[in-house]
Amino acid sequence: MINQYDVLAKITEATAEAPLRKHFEEFTFFQALGDITGRSVLDVACGTGVYSRRIKQRGAGRVVGVDSSEGMIAYARHLEHQAPLGIEYVVQDAASGRALGVFDVVTATYLLHYASSIQQMQGMCATLRRSLAPGGRLVSICLNPDARVTEPAYYRPYGFELRSRGQEGDEAKLVSVLPEMPFSVTAWYWSRRTYEAALQSAGFRDIVWCAPEIAPEGLAAFGAEHWQDYLRAPHAAVFTCTA
Ligand SMILES: C[S@@+](CC[C@H](N)C(=O)[O-])C[C@H]1O[C@@H](n2cnc3c(N)ncnc32)[C@H](O)[C@@H]1O
Repeated sequence: MINQYDVLAKITEATAEAPLRKHFEEFTFFQALGDITGRSVLDVACGTGVYSRRIKQRGAGRVVGVDSSEGMIAYARHLEHQAPLGIEYVVQDAASGRALGVFDVVTATYLLHYASSIQQMQGMCATLRRSLAPGGRLVSICLNPDARVTEPAYYRPYGFELRSRGQEGDEAKLVSVLPEMPFSVTAWYWSRRTYEAALQSAGFRDIVWCAPEIAPEGLAAFGAEHWQDYLRAPHAAVFTCTA
């Protein structure tokens, strides 16, 4: 019998191939991540392991994925069993503040905006920081604090609506408009100042918000004009910082 987590897990896998995720998100993220050959990587909020697998396939050493959802981790383990890459998957709440080992690199694609309070975000940042070796890097994606688009239809050409007033601490509901990929998730809108304060209070420094980029294949497939509105106000932002 399929439960709700299985459904979400399958949809998360399907969205990984959506044009926006491939051509903007994955491209910008890996540009920021750089060479990870032989590096140990902890992928927090790994979901079904989309990025854990991509990271391993790009030559990382030990890769561990962690997520608070048992359903997501069960699906990630199922995929690992089907096509083994040597990735370990663990169920844990990233807001606990407990270190998950000591890694060269920590990634967290779509984690921090699930904090419904500043205290919870501080707990997440503490976990990320404590899981890094001194000088190690965090590379992360969150809802873009600088894109306060309050017109839900703005992102329809890219496959979803974003419903939020764009004020500090507000709910932000992301709703797919693709019939073949129906889903809706609720996150929270936080300002750049709040993200940076939480990161700094956990001991992170050198926070850099990365310029959004579209992969050459994405430009070739859809044309530069298609991406113009998105690049004017990307819904997601990649940032890096150092432990
Ligand atoms: C949108 S999914 C992203 C999954 C994956 N990182 C990706 O990019 O495909 C967000 C994930 O964050 C996880 N998550 C949310 N809050 C969490 C927390 N406090 N601790 C660990 N995982 C969390 C959810 O269970 C979900 O799998």
